[in-house]
Amino acid sequence: MEYVIETRDLTRDFGKFTAVDKLNIKIKPGEIYGFLGPNGAGKSTVIRMLCGILEPTEGSATILGYDLLRETEKIKSYIGYMSQKFSLYDDLTVLENLNFYAGIYSITREVRQERIGEMLAMAGLRGREKELVANLSGGWKQRLALGCAIIARPAIIFLDEPTSGVSPTSRRMFFNIIQELANQGTTIMVTTHFMDEAERCHKIAFISAGRLMAVNTPDYLKRNTLEGFLVELAIPQAMEKISAFENLPYVKDCTIHGPLLHVLLDDEKHIGALRDFSGVEPRPIVPSLEDVFIALAKRQRAGESYA
Ligand SMILES: Nc1ncnc2c1ncn2[C@@H]1O[C@H](COP(=O)(O)OP(=O)(O)O)[C@@H](O)[C@H]1O
Ligand SMILES: [Mg+2]
Repeated sequence: MEYVIETRDLTRDFGKFTAVDKLNIKIKPGEIYGFLGPNGAGKSTVIRMLCGILEPTEGSATILGYDLLRETEKIKSYIGYMSQKFSLYDDLTVLENLNFYAGIYSITREVRQERIGEMLAMAGLRGREKELVANLSGGWKQRLALGCAIIARPAIIFLDEPTSGVSPTSRRMFFNIIQELANQGTTIMVTTHFMDEAERCHKIAFISAGRLMAVNTPDYLKRNTLEGFLVELAIPQAMEKISAFENLPYVKDCTIHGPLLHVLLDDEKHIGALRDFSGVEPRPIVPSLEDVFIALAKRQRAGESYA
């Protein structure tokens, strides 16, 4: 099977409002597919449709060759889903939570102990089986939630902002697990706001206002999205000066990145003019994913979209 997920003009309206607008995406087996976009872009709505929790208004999708509308129950048996607010039982222990989810997924008694053991090892929770979930910190809870979501060894995992609210170290550990699962052939669709995580995805789809704006590898997007020549300026109080830079005729765009200003020139030849104007040396840079997302979000507001 070339694609495990394929959507065709997948659309969801809420009343008169279109949250997801004719989405066409294709995801290959073993791919980590990052789903990015501003809040309200429609990411969770897409995931909820693909998990069979929410019905599309229009369009269709095929998951593992099954039709999303007609074979929803079949699909559900092959997928794992971890929502933005993952649901663990705080007043149960680690082991009790895993047992509970093993029951939900109808995992037979014969393989249950083995699976629970695997999930404990994956989450790094061996030896903490009897701890109450309420006493675990965010990172542990999150890895346990992942264990609960994938205890049935799903072929596809949907992770909706799985790492919001946990420490950078926990986020990295979590993504190491994700990469390991993908190496073993599991397909993963994940939403995130973190650029370091986006960098670790094989493909990134960027949506804004329900529309697909771009989809490709992180590297491709960085090299091919911005139209112009990007430089970095180390100038103090960049915030106060941004509009002066934006008003220069050869400047297409200007954004603040911590203490640095990123300036998009319409052409490399204006580097000298920018040096004279700013009094500092402009440093040519490859756009970061953040530059890409800012550019795509602006493009969306300007009414363009990805064909
Ligand atoms: N059940 C619902 N009823 C009405 N509007 C909804 C519902 N669910 C989501 N929306 C709206 O759809 C848009 C997309 O939401 P969502 O998919 O949660 O975005 P994201 O996950 O990208 O932040 C938002 O404007 C949100 O308010
Ligand atoms: Mg969401």
